[in-house]
Amino acid sequence: MAYWKGLIEEYRAYLSVTEKTPVITLKEGDTPLLYGPRISRKLGNGVKVFFKFEGLNPTCSFKDRGMTMAISKAVEEGSKAVICASTGNTSASAAAYSAHAGISCAVLLPHGSIALGKLAQSMIYGAKVLAVEGSFDQALALTRQLADKHPITMVNSNNPYRIEGQKTAAFEIVDTIGDAPEYHAIPVGNAGNITAYWRGYKEYKQLGKSTRFPRMCGFQAAGAAPIVNKKIVENPQTIATAIKIGNPFSWKSAEAARDESRGLIEAVTDEEILEAYEMLASMEGIFCEPASAASLAGVIKKNKEGYFIDGERRIVCTLTGHGLKDPDAAVMRSTKPTVIKPDMVDILKALKL
Ligand code: F0G
Repeated sequence: MAYWKGLIEEYRAYLSVTEKTPVITLKEGDTPLLYGPRISRKLGNGVKVFFKFEGLNPTCSFKDRGMTMAISKAVEEGSKAVICASTGNTSASAAAYSAHAGISCAVLLPHGSIALGKLAQSMIYGAKVLAVEGSFDQALALTRQLADKHPITMVNSNNPYRIEGQKTAAFEIVDTIGDAPEYHAIPVGNAGNITAYWRGYKEYKQLGKSTRFPRMCGFQAAGAAPIVNKKIVENPQTIATAIKIGNPFSWKSAEAARDESRGLIEAVTDEEILEAYEMLASMEGIFCEPASAASLAGVIKKNKEGYFIDGERRIVCTLTGHGLKDPDAAVMRSTKPTVIKPDMVDILKALKL
């Protein structure tokens, strides 16, 4: 039986690896592309919404695609230690792949702004965890200074191998549906992933594997929307902590993805994000983290405005991380459990049976 070998082996021809590259893999990639029948029906207008569920990667986010490449190349280059700043997912992934490679890992996290599951991951994978009393943007700036001066490899998305690995998600989508979709919706934080998908779609089209470019539709949280507002946000605010970023590293390349694909980058409110988050779980059985639902929130908003007009209207939404990363958000959004006595009468009454 053919089994998935991890994305470096599966897409070796399209990645800058050689026979000399030690492949550090936890068998990331090959995530499901799920059709959402109920959400599609609710949206109407003939749209067909698909979800690329990246929460099913080894550390439960899309970051593993970039990290298998970044850590493999770091080891190839003789690095013994890596570092990153993170809103939680990059750090979890860096910590896991470093552990798997037997090298050390340090992570700088904005204190108090990390979802519990992500913090737990970095800790148990054995990274040196520093909680910086400041924003992600500050942590990123400090990390860059550190990596400039010390023999330690930085594995944020300024590391070109990260973007390279992440582009494989676009390959998988084309390989699955036989062509690129008409639209691709994606949350935008540090803006590496929209850059990576666009590169993947362009490369596959050039190779004749697809016949079209999707319009790239990026969505930022309204309280952390520097690209939308064309201005650095000094004090970003959003429930979607993964994308609580005021000065994205890949700002320019995200704009290029938007413009070259004739797409858009817009903002969605926290309430719109949470509504989409709940819809995904309760209507489709797909539990992603709040930031991930920014893609569907954006699609709902643009659909109301009549944006999806041309052709067949297939929309792929990237769901970047798993819902269990942030259990507090789910509990906060849901009806609390009814506490009852271990008594059948009470149970029947509670269930209205
Ligand atoms: N969704 C999730 C769940 C994320 O963790 C991130 C980024 C994004 C979306 C945005 O992707 O930065 O490529 O535009 N998380 C980074 C981190 C910043 O440190 O984990 P992006």
